[in-house]
Formats: sequence, C-alpha cells, structure tokens
Amino acid sequence: FPSRQLSGKRVTITAGPTREAIDPVRYISNHSSGKMGYALAQAARDAGAQVTLISGPVNLDAPDRIQRIDVISAQDMYEAAMAQVQACDIFIATAAVSDFRVQNSHSQKIKKQDNSSAAMTLTLVENPDIIAAVANSTPKPFTVGFAAETQEVEEYARQKIKRKNLDMIVANDVSRIDIGFNSDNNAVTAIWGSGEATLEIASKHQIAKQLITLISDHYHNSTES
Ligand code: PMT
Repeated sequence: FPSRQLSGKRVTITAGPTREAIDPVRYISNHSSGKMGYALAQAARDAGAQVTLISGPVNLDAPDRIQRIDVISAQDMYEAAMAQVQACDIFIATAAVSDFRVQNSHSQKIKKQDNSSAAMTLTLVENPDIIAAVANSTPKPFTVGFAAETQEVEEYARQKIKRKNLDMIVANDVSRIDIGFNSDNNAVTAIWGSGEATLEIASKHQIAKQLITLISDHYHNSTES
C-alpha cells in the first residue's frame, strides 16, 4: 500500500464464528475459521489503519500491531462492537454470527434421558443483528457487511445491503468447497449503491488487499460528499 490509504483511520473488524451455549460442554456454531477477517485486519493495518479485531473463537494467532478483543457468543460480540462503534471510521463484519441462541442454556450438563428414543427440543431466540445496529448508530461508520449465501448469492446480498443499511456488501458463495468457510482462498463480489466488482479466486490475503483498496476508495468518496 504505497499511499497508505487508511493512514490515521480507525477500522474495526469482526471475525470468526460465535458459539451459543447449550450447556457447559455443548454449543451451536458454524465453520468460520476467521481467516478472511484476520486477512482483512492485516491488510487494513498495512494500509496504515489503526485496527481493532473483534474475534470469535478461532485457531489463529493475533496479528502484530492490531488490538484483538476475544469474544465467544453473539451477545458478547454485539457488546464489544457497540463499545467500539463511536471510535471507528470503518466497520467491516466478516464474522459468521449465529442468528439464534438457546433461550435457556443449561447451567449443568444435560443428561441423556433414560428413554433414549425421546426427542429433545431446544428453543432458540434471535440474537441482536450487530452490523445493523452499527449501521443505524450516529455517527455511522462506513459499514461493510459480508453475505454468506448458498444460492442466489448476489440477489440475497443486494437485499441485505438495503435491509441492514450498509455502504457495501461482499457477497460470498459458501456452497463451494474451494472458497468461503475455512478455505485459504476466496472469490467474492463487492456490491455498493451504484456498482460492483468481482474478485476472482485468490488467496484470502490477496482478496483482503483488493477489498481494502475498494473500501478505502469508497470511504474517501463518502467523506468528500
Ligand atoms: O472465517 P472464514 O473461514 O475465513 O470464512 C469467511 C466467511 C465465509 C465467514 C466470510 O467470508 C463471510 O461470508 N462472512 C459472513 C458470514 C455470515 O454470517 O453472513 P450472513 O449473510 O449470515 O450475515 C450478513 C452480515 O451480517 C455479515 O456481515 C454478518 O457478520 C452480519 N451479522 C449477521 C448476523 C448478526 N446477528 N449480526 C451480524 O452482524
């Protein structure tokens, strides 16, 4: 980044999965490894930004010269994000946040019933939508979401950019095994109000650099108008 496009800018990034407790030993989660979010954090840092990474549980080392805040559940991630929102210029949500949590998680390990054929029911309740809350705060940071979809990827991403009031959304087809969740590579389409850019398959580090350049350009345009 020769021009250090994000010099002096504060960037907050969410990454990884969340874990929603069922009981002290079990949880509901997903396949996010954190690789995409960590690559973006490094690319934003290399572009000169001061980076805060709000990370769900992942097996990645904290990148140098980045403030990392570790969280477990969607509620924890929401609280960490809300604490940052007034202190950031750009907010990027790569985290795969669980949309639901268990209504009454058990404080003790759930024991298997004697009648082993008995079905068990977990009641789920909705988690807060972190990026929608960020995008509806005042002042609003330049807000970039990701959309992980398995079908009609761009159409659903376009619905999310509107519904969540985002400045940009990065559509990610997670039905493919060569990209998306846990892979070292990705291929995405970045979509904003008046255009889009398709980034062909490349390492998540290369995709992150291209995305940071795009985000930076659109961020600077938005602050000029
Ligand atoms: O971590 P990796 O293994 O590298 O994989 C990367 C990735 C596939 C997880 C990433 O590229 C990606 O697509 N992240 C978005 C995952 C997701 O949960 O998407 P979604 O379409 O369900 O959510 C849309 C947006 O809302 C996302 O920016 C998400 O962070 C945000 N969201 C969702 C729910 C919620 N309660 N709060 C949120 O902020």
